[in-house]
Amino acid sequence: MKEDSIEENSEFDDSNLVKELTKQGILVSCINVVKNYEIGDFIVKAVDNVSLEVMENEFVVIKGPSGAGKTTLLNLIGGLDSPNSGTIYNQGVKISDMDQESLTLFRLVNSGFIFQNYNLISTLTAEENVMFPMNLSGMNFEEQRNRAVKLLKEMRLGDRREHLPFQLSAGEQQRVAIARAMANDPPVILADEPTANLDKKTSQFIRDLFKDLKTSDKTIIIATHDDDLIELADQIISFDEGKIIEEKHISN
Ligand SMILES: Nc1ncnc2c1ncn2[C@@H]1O[C@H](COP(=O)(O)OP(=O)(O)OP(=O)(O)O)[C@@H](O)[C@H]1O
Ligand SMILES: [Mg+2]
Repeated sequence: MKEDSIEENSEFDDSNLVKELTKQGILVSCINVVKNYEIGDFIVKAVDNVSLEVMENEFVVIKGPSGAGKTTLLNLIGGLDSPNSGTIYNQGVKISDMDQESLTLFRLVNSGFIFQNYNLISTLTAEENVMFPMNLSGMNFEEQRNRAVKLLKEMRLGDRREHLPFQLSAGEQQRVAIARAMANDPPVILADEPTANLDKKTSQFIRDLFKDLKTSDKTIIIATHDDDLIELADQIISFDEGKIIEEKHISN
């Protein structure tokens, strides 16, 4: 009986909090988030009691040295991973205690990921890679194909649609990965060092793309060291050893 009322109360508090976050235009909220990795007796505190907020339409840059925990933090925010403790709200949903199946569904339509190492499916062509998330979300085949063709053309890859990932250059793979991230038109784009290890021309193309995205209705959270991307930021979070060491809000 007592447990029931506590549970009811916490659900009530939760829905009130979600309403308050939405009212204030807060799209992502992390509260005291912890992610540890245990290797034998050794514990790496990859994300160590982090709290942050991302506003709707904000362009947020997370920067910091290698091993700081940037990728781990992005994965937690996007629901690719779950924290050991703490709470994460993303687009009005408490994702921190969701099971894997619900997280997969959540990610499909709510977050587009651009990974550090592209993460394309090696046995699928560029076009099929872009169609994959649309297929999972139940879009009909023709629509999937038309949208994949359109997105690949926008990425200047109209003539690379039938190529497998190994037949594409690094920059081309990254552009396929960006098209895939846009496939279900998610409100939040999470990008992990999207211009790292790319030639100048492709890096510039990707920077221009993010510049365009900034003026769209997307919310962007990006881990990067690239000064040209940092320049676009509304909020810069400096991260080291799993902690936020500085938070800068830039008024435009
Ligand atoms: N799966 C894992 N198992 C164990 N330790 C991990 C795992 N993933 C990350 N770590 C550790 O967590 C810490 C944070 O890693 P993370 O990849 O988030 O850093 P990063 O800031 O993205 O670094 P980089 O700039 O090199 O990409 C590192 O010390 C790393 O060794
Ligand atoms: Mg990383």
